[in-house]
Amino acid sequence: MPARRCCVFAPGRVNVIGEHTDYNQGLALPFAITDGITVRASTNEHEPDGSRCVEAIARELGESDRFALENPEPTTGWRAFVRGAVAELQDAGFPLVGAKLEISGRLAQGAGLSSSAALTVALCMALLDLVSSEERRGELSIDRIALARICSKIENDWAGAQTGLLDQIASLCGASDTALRIDFQSLEVTPVPLQLEGWHFAIADSGDRHVHASSGYNERRAECTRACEILGIASLREARLDRLDELPEPLQRRARHVLEENDRVQTTVAALDEQRLDVVGEQLSASHESLRDLYQVSTPAVEAAVDRLTRAGASGARLIGGGFGGSVLGLFEPDVPLPPDTLEVAPGPGAHVLAR
Ligand code: GLA
Repeated sequence: MPARRCCVFAPGRVNVIGEHTDYNQGLALPFAITDGITVRASTNEHEPDGSRCVEAIARELGESDRFALENPEPTTGWRAFVRGAVAELQDAGFPLVGAKLEISGRLAQGAGLSSSAALTVALCMALLDLVSSEERRGELSIDRIALARICSKIENDWAGAQTGLLDQIASLCGASDTALRIDFQSLEVTPVPLQLEGWHFAIADSGDRHVHASSGYNERRAECTRACEILGIASLREARLDRLDELPEPLQRRARHVLEENDRVQTTVAALDEQRLDVVGEQLSASHESLRDLYQVSTPAVEAAVDRLTRAGASGARLIGGGFGGSVLGLFEPDVPLPPDTLEVAPGPGAHVLAR
C-alpha cells in the first residue's frame, strides 16, 4: 500500500448536566468543546525483519513510545491509550498497519474536560483512516456509537478507569451550537439546540487533578452496582424513589443522586427549549449540591471554584466530569462579565479528519 497520512481532531467535552448517570443507564446533556487533541498519523515502512511497529510521540510531554503492531503490551500513562487503541481495533477486526502517531493538544489532563476520551477517539480515527479504502477516506468505517464503545473499552481495560460512554459519545457525536441529550439505556443521541441568547458558559479549573483509575470513581461505580443487586434491578434507571429506603447508606444517597439527576436533565432540556436560561442555572446548582452531598465527589478546591463563580455572578455553577477535582462550569447572564480566571466554552463539531 502506498504511504498514507492523515490528521484527526477529537474534542474534549463539557457536560451541561447529568453526572454519574452514564454507567447507570441514565440521561446526560454534554457538548463537544472547540479544544481537543490532534493526532497526525502516517503509515510506517516494515522493519528490516519484516515486522511492523507503531511509534507514538506525545509532543507536549516530549515523550515517545514504540511497540510491535501485532503485540501491544499493557503499560501506564498516555501510552496505555495508544497501545489499547491499536490492540482493541485489531481485536474488533480492523486490519491495521504500522504507523507513526504524533499527538498534540491543548486539553489539560485530569481537568474534567475529558482529555483521555479525546485522545482515544483521535487515535482510533487516525488508525482507521490510514487503512480505509481510497473511495471511503474521510468517512468513518464504523458507526460512531460502536466506536465509542471500543474507546470506552480502551479506557476500562487498558487505563483501568471504569468510566461510561459519556465522554466518547460527546467527542464523536458533537456538533456546533448543539448539546446532545444522550439516553444511555437506548443509546439514543438527540441534538438539543443551545440557543444561549447572549448567556455564556465558562469553566474554571479547580487546580485539583484527578486520575479516575485511582480516585473514588471506580468505588462509586461499584456502589451503584451493589445498590442494583440489593434492589434486584438491572440498572439504577429502573430504581424508584419510594424503594430507596431499602438501601443502606451511602448507597441510598448515591441512588437518590442518580434518579434526581436524570430528572434534572429532563428539566434542563425543557428549559433550553423554552429559552429559560435562568432555570438551567438553577438546575446546575442543584446538580452540584447533589454531587457534593449525595454522591460525595467534590473536594475543597472544587468548592472554592464554585464559590468563586457564584460570587462573580454565575446563575448556576457545578463540578463537571467524574469529580475528585477537575473543572467547574458556570452559566452567566449576558450582562455579567466572565471572571478573569475562566475560559468561555461553546459547542463545537465532533471528531473529524482535518487533512491528509
Ligand atoms: C467521567 C467519566 C464519564 C462519566 C463522568 C461522570 O467523565 O469518564 O464516563 O461517568 O465522569 O458523569
